[in-house]
Amino acid sequence: MSDFFDIKDREFQEHPHAVYKRLIAECPVHHSEKYGFYAVSRYQDVKEILRNTGLWSSKFGPGTAYADPEAPNALVNVDPPEHDFQLKLVNKAFTRQSINALEPDITEFVRNKVAEIRPRGHADLMQDFAVHLPLFVISRMLGVDPADGPMFRGWVQELTMGVFGDGDPAVIQGVQAEFAAYFTNEVQKREKVLAEGGTLEDDLITRLLTAEVDGKRLEPARVLGFISFLLVAGSGTTTMLVCNTVHHLLENPDQMAKVMANFDLIPPALEESMRYTAPVHGLFRTNNEDVTLHGVNIPKDSKVMCMFAAANLDADQFADPDRFDVERSAAELRKQLGFGWGTHICTGAPLARMEARIALTEILSGLPNLRADGPAVQTAPSVLYGFDSLPVAWDAE
Ligand code: HEM
Repeated sequence: MSDFFDIKDREFQEHPHAVYKRLIAECPVHHSEKYGFYAVSRYQDVKEILRNTGLWSSKFGPGTAYADPEAPNALVNVDPPEHDFQLKLVNKAFTRQSINALEPDITEFVRNKVAEIRPRGHADLMQDFAVHLPLFVISRMLGVDPADGPMFRGWVQELTMGVFGDGDPAVIQGVQAEFAAYFTNEVQKREKVLAEGGTLEDDLITRLLTAEVDGKRLEPARVLGFISFLLVAGSGTTTMLVCNTVHHLLENPDQMAKVMANFDLIPPALEESMRYTAPVHGLFRTNNEDVTLHGVNIPKDSKVMCMFAAANLDADQFADPDRFDVERSAAELRKQLGFGWGTHICTGAPLARMEARIALTEILSGLPNLRADGPAVQTAPSVLYGFDSLPVAWDAE
């Protein structure tokens, strides 16, 4: 079969739906000669892989590159039972209460950003607005200087490129070293205070260092790995969710009209946006033994991509999957796989949903007669669907 699916092809990145649908219909297990990995696209197959962690391991990491399974890995790179232990620890640090407590600050931040751009009458919604939001939130959660946000932004772009083997390996390694130095320092500062019996601010790094399950703590090296993953997992993705949703509403004026008439439709619109164009095309597992699926032999230790975004268009699960519908049934929206599913389902999903809900509310109420103002530009990391640039205009006062 000719290779109609190339994850790094510009045409695919800009218009993935046609390829997803072809994968589902014609080639549910696709082997990419070019990149060496297999891609699984049907909803039930993706879920089955995510369910069976004994066969489909995360030990080589969620990206295309084989991560070192012996490294002090955290959460997304580990299988049960170690994963169960780490998740319990992380859940102690990352509680619903601590996330909800961020809502007033996030609302204030977003209102100020909207007020800042409003008089201009136009902006790049991604660069002037969305990119700042998750970096503010994550800096705030980690208890590091928010002024360092712009530095994180450069790091995140490179680290995300690394997940899919995009970008320059030397640059990515340099960023990894800078990142490690910065956060090692943050971890060590807190360890010193703890060793001296002092009191620390109640931030996520402190919580990750001090949380205990069965008398065991997360080693500082794993805390670092976890923070690195948080930055990558929680920033680009959230900005994509915000801008993809605004883009879909602008492209579908009937759906925009419904949301403008009833802001209670913002959460389902976000969920539908996650289904319609999941910000992460898919992530990887590695099979612990040879597997044959739909007649395709997948040799042991292959990188196999679970295509969340394709599965979300599977017509066996979603009625009229190519329609962006903010009133899609709650039962269908609950099934979307944009945050993954099962053991590794996104820890940050409630936070991402809250950030995006606040952002959409303030954008739609604060920027009247919002409209597109030029072509959107697709982002570079091939793991993501979304924009580097989303020019919009509105009626300024
Ligand atoms: C719209 C925004 C987001 C999307 C689309 C997204 C997507 C995902 C996906 C698909 C996974 C599954 C990984 C796998 O199966 O291997 C995941 C896991 C994870 N995400 Fe998110 N994420 C988002 C926001 C966030 C945020 C804001 C945070 C935290 C600040 C976060 C933290 C995590 C963590 C810690 C995991 C690993 C969970 C585990 O392995 O048990 N994510 N995310």
